[in-house]
Amino acid sequence: MLATAADRREGRIQRLGNLLVLQYLSLNAFPCGAARNAMRRVLRPVSESNPPTTVTDARVANLAAKFEKFARKCSGVSPLYERLSLGIMRDYDLLSLAAEARADPVPNLLLAAVHYLLLAGERADLTDHYPDLVSVVACTDPYPSFRRFCLEHQIQLTSLIRSRNVQTNAVGRAAILVPCFALLAEAMRAPLAVIEVGASAGLLLAWDRYSYDYGSAGSIGPRSSPVQLHCQVTGEGYPNVAHSLPAVVFRKGLDLDPPDLDSVVDRRWLQALVWPDQPERLAQLEAAVEVVRRAPPNIVAGDAARLLPSVMDEAPREAVLCVFHSHSMYQFPEQSRMALLRAMRELGRRRPVFRIGLEAVKQRSYCHLELEACGSGLARRLAVTDDYGMSMHWVGPAALALQPSAMQPASLPGSIGQSTIGK
Ligand SMILES: C[S@@+](CC[C@H](N)C(=O)[O-])C[C@H]1O[C@@H](n2cnc3c(N)ncnc32)[C@H](O)[C@@H]1O
Repeated sequence: MLATAADRREGRIQRLGNLLVLQYLSLNAFPCGAARNAMRRVLRPVSESNPPTTVTDARVANLAAKFEKFARKCSGVSPLYERLSLGIMRDYDLLSLAAEARADPVPNLLLAAVHYLLLAGERADLTDHYPDLVSVVACTDPYPSFRRFCLEHQIQLTSLIRSRNVQTNAVGRAAILVPCFALLAEAMRAPLAVIEVGASAGLLLAWDRYSYDYGSAGSIGPRSSPVQLHCQVTGEGYPNVAHSLPAVVFRKGLDLDPPDLDSVVDRRWLQALVWPDQPERLAQLEAAVEVVRRAPPNIVAGDAARLLPSVMDEAPREAVLCVFHSHSMYQFPEQSRMALLRAMRELGRRRPVFRIGLEAVKQRSYCHLELEACGSGLARRLAVTDDYGMSMHWVGPAALALQPSAMQPASLPGSIGQSTIGK
């Protein structure tokens, strides 16, 4: 069988792991201080493009603050990750291990790497604390087992957190995007062309193959879909979603490094990114992966800021062009966010282009769903939501009047992804 790109990458991780093993063995073969230090200098470059991190006290303190913040985020949602994060933030050894990560958010990355190894079948008593891996969870403190596991698996964990990125593809978020797509299709009386920026494996791009239950606010989508999403809606003026889902005539995703759903390794990484005590999210992920694998969307690998202009040009003119981004802008440098906005606004002056943003609000525990009519200077906040599409408070209109009176001036370029509209 041919190896997928992800499996080849796994081979690279393995090779990096081997290098680290060699480095470790060599260091321990030189117990005397001076010889050891000399050896350390010789062995330092693990690879030219991937040198070991220099752990400074400032970096460790900064990471401790990140784990503390992450523990607060997990409070009431994931008791396991809350406890582990509170332990890591006080543990110099584990913070030093976490310092090997190349990208943010480091807490998600380290915890996912541990989860990945357990999912891959690494046997340890830590497994007994993961609700998705055992039927009866141990009621003792998980931290001592977690710490031991991390120290025993430093090499594999270092390889993972250096080579992987947080690519959580939360299919439940589709429930937040759907009313916005429905509003746009109805207002414009045309099918949609959709492009997702930061698409990960493309699970959100398949939003029209899932079934949605909004409680008393209605339901929509193919009822027999294996992916059944439930979203609690509050607020006034929620749009009528009782019709069928809008037609999509063009769909494409952009991602720096799209996970390959045909690779066991990449599927396991997506699974590892789900918190172990959120079984409903795990079930949604597995169901969506199967749906998407049957007819995968086209995801172009590369920097979205560079690719977006040409991909937008491919979208048929008769369709309403919707570029959406969900929980991805925090991974883009400011310069790239500005480039994305500029491209959409420039094209928006020549044809209708809408930007739909679903992003976390900085320093807050909620997200905003926003709609911008690019190039018109008009935008509108539609909903305040949770992280995973379980609930939303609708603050937008029931029907879109794409006129200045129904919209608000969009804020200046550069603030994309951190709540663009108003304060
Ligand atoms: C946290 S995931 C979000 C996935 C999906 N939008 C969702 O909400 O489920 C963020 C994605 O953005 C991608 N990403 C980060 N920087 C990027 C860039 N410059 N160009 C394209 N994709 C990027 C990452 O590879 C990752 O898959």
